[in-house]
Amino acid sequence: MKPRLIVTRRWPAAVEALLAERFDTTLNTDDTPLSAAAMTSAFADFDAILATVSDRLPGVVFPESAARTRIIANFGVGFSHIDVAAARDRDIVVTNTPGVLTDCTADLALSLILAVARRTGEGERQLRAGEWRGWSPTHMAGAKVSGKTLGIVGMGRIGKATARRAHFGFGMKIVFFNRSPIDDDETRAMGAVQMPTLEDALAASDFVSLHCPGGAENRHLIDARSLRSMKRGAFLINTARGDVIDQDALIGALQRREIAGAGLDVFAEEPAVPEALKQLENVVLLPHLGSATEETRVAMGMKVVENLTAFFEGRPVPDRVA
Ligand code: DGY
Repeated sequence: MKPRLIVTRRWPAAVEALLAERFDTTLNTDDTPLSAAAMTSAFADFDAILATVSDRLPGVVFPESAARTRIIANFGVGFSHIDVAAARDRDIVVTNTPGVLTDCTADLALSLILAVARRTGEGERQLRAGEWRGWSPTHMAGAKVSGKTLGIVGMGRIGKATARRAHFGFGMKIVFFNRSPIDDDETRAMGAVQMPTLEDALAASDFVSLHCPGGAENRHLIDARSLRSMKRGAFLINTARGDVIDQDALIGALQRREIAGAGLDVFAEEPAVPEALKQLENVVLLPHLGSATEETRVAMGMKVVENLTAFFEGRPVPDRVA
């Protein structure tokens, strides 16, 4: 008997085909996220739940006991939407997909840096609205990116990949805040300087890019106080998780021009985006596109297939997080 699994959203076709070949697979052909009740019954009916960041798996959706589900295989590197302690308590394995989305997420962080500093969204909106009156020396002057200082918060895989692009591509100086000390060839090659506190990293940076995990440990790491540590002309970039920023505090800081702008790919209550953010010209807003390339989304799915195959063959699971 093949293990029974449920895929909670539409996945790339090549991955769905492989899943259907190897497992007894229930696909979500209309791509509607599962309700909390449907998620709870999935624990009773399936050996594996193939979740994504758009699913909510807090402790309350886990069954009290006797779940059929033995593994939650997440399509994505971040897993703060899954209560891993609840999974552990019920002997449910949790996996993620690290590595394969590093480049694309770092690429997107760079595109947000460039877009918000050079006002490309604003410029395109003006042009499409037929409001462009032609070139002029004072038209839509933004902030220079090359040579400025980039502060990375969370110097893991994606943080380093973003720093590398910024340093070697745009001659940016790199400072970073990371809870554990980092001193390796890669950071040394960039001349990246680890700052003792988050506030020191924020105060030194013209651009701050967030690359730490979401969830309880980093919830509202960037709050009203830390926003006040940033330079008035600085920009905040978030491709990590929405809950790392106190979104209301950010909106206030942007409205009062306490920082120059923000480039956001993630939000506190996705897919809801506060109207107040949409009203601001000094922000670039993207619908969680960090890993959204054909190549990367297929690679993420294939990592899930590898994790599941190893698990059901009784081999060590490569990307186990719980
Ligand atoms: C992740 O992998 O955690 C992303 O946010 C989803 O692509």
